[in-house]
Amino acid sequence: MSVLVTGAAGFIGSHVVDRLAEQGRKVIALDDLSGPGNWRNLERWRGSDTVAFVEADVAEGLAGPLREAEAKVGGVARIVHLAAQVSVVHSLAHPLADLNTNGRGIVQVLEFARRAKAAKVVFASSAAVYGDVDQVPTQEGAPKSPLSPYGINKLASEFWLGAYSQTHGVATSPLRFFNVYGPRQDPSSPYSGVISIFIDRAKANRPITIFGDGEQTRDFVYVGDVVNAIVAALDKNESTPPINVGTGRSTSVNQLAAAVLEAASSTSQISHGQARGGEIRHSLAVVDLLEQVLGVVAQMPLVDGLRRTL
Ligand code: NAD
Ligand code: UD1
Repeated sequence: MSVLVTGAAGFIGSHVVDRLAEQGRKVIALDDLSGPGNWRNLERWRGSDTVAFVEADVAEGLAGPLREAEAKVGGVARIVHLAAQVSVVHSLAHPLADLNTNGRGIVQVLEFARRAKAAKVVFASSAAVYGDVDQVPTQEGAPKSPLSPYGINKLASEFWLGAYSQTHGVATSPLRFFNVYGPRQDPSSPYSGVISIFIDRAKANRPITIFGDGEQTRDFVYVGDVVNAIVAALDKNESTPPINVGTGRSTSVNQLAAAVLEAASSTSQISHGQARGGEIRHSLAVVDLLEQVLGVVAQMPLVDGLRRTL
């Protein structure tokens, strides 16, 4: 039997494939290569009999595209669904494109899981489901008011998972990632994760721009800790409620910039630009469920995670 990982060529997906394949598990790595992801991230598994590669669009259905790979590494028993249109800003400009990939995508994955009688579906949800919430740090039960099509489709996907779990007996786990960072995160877009941008600039001693006063805060979680959560959820046979995946530690953008410059021994100049419109001021996870349900504590200290990313 195999594990299907969608979005496998991407940042988080490629780390998930590495971990599963290192555990000796058979993996089907699926991606349509529409994002910054690249099969180069998984080059070490080329030609192995552990990982099968499939180039396909999740929104178009999975059974047909997966047939050959399943014949090679075994039928799909568990699924990690990470493939997505990932940009909040893009979703605001192109809501239908977001609906197509992120809305149709989840239903295609669940339909495939139901027919294949897959034992588990783990889904990459986001802290974006909360929107501008009053309760910070934020528990999973806090009110949800997503502000973007991206956040709306992530929240809707959680409802799809819940419904398939109740109605069709597909065991599901939605994981709400906070700000994930680490090696292979693509810095090339203005909306790339702030850590990937700061590190890219710091390495080249190019100027860094902090949007606004820099006192906004985030919960930055290292990709290795996120993979720990994904694998723990994947191996749990029963459904779980949505679970925050963060560290419970808050870092301001000013603190982050200073830490990046120090870790990179960089001479980059820091300047402050205009604050980003409509962005959340503070984002911080309550991580009790992560530990209680999945037995995972995100342990990587920011400084060490930054060094590894560098
Ligand atoms: P990424 O862009 O590196 O990876 C996403 C991958 O999905 C890309 O390789 C892309 O080519 C692929 N993809 C996009 N549309 C597809 C489609 N229709 N069919 C097949 N493949 C498709 O992004 P990432 O940071 O690794 O994000 C992975 C998941 O985690 C996403 O669902 C994202 O929404 C979620 N997430 C990430 C963060 C974060 O901080 N990085 C935070 C919250 C949630
Ligand atoms: C992140 C996610 C988004 C998710 C949201 C809520 C990414 C890329 N985006 O958005 O999908 O919906 O969390 O969980 O992970 N900044 C600068 N200078 C820069 C770039 C950014 O000061 O050059 C600041 C931003 O203004 C922001 C902070 O850094 O205050 C983090 O920005 P970013 O990494 O884009 O993530 P979020 O906006 O938190």
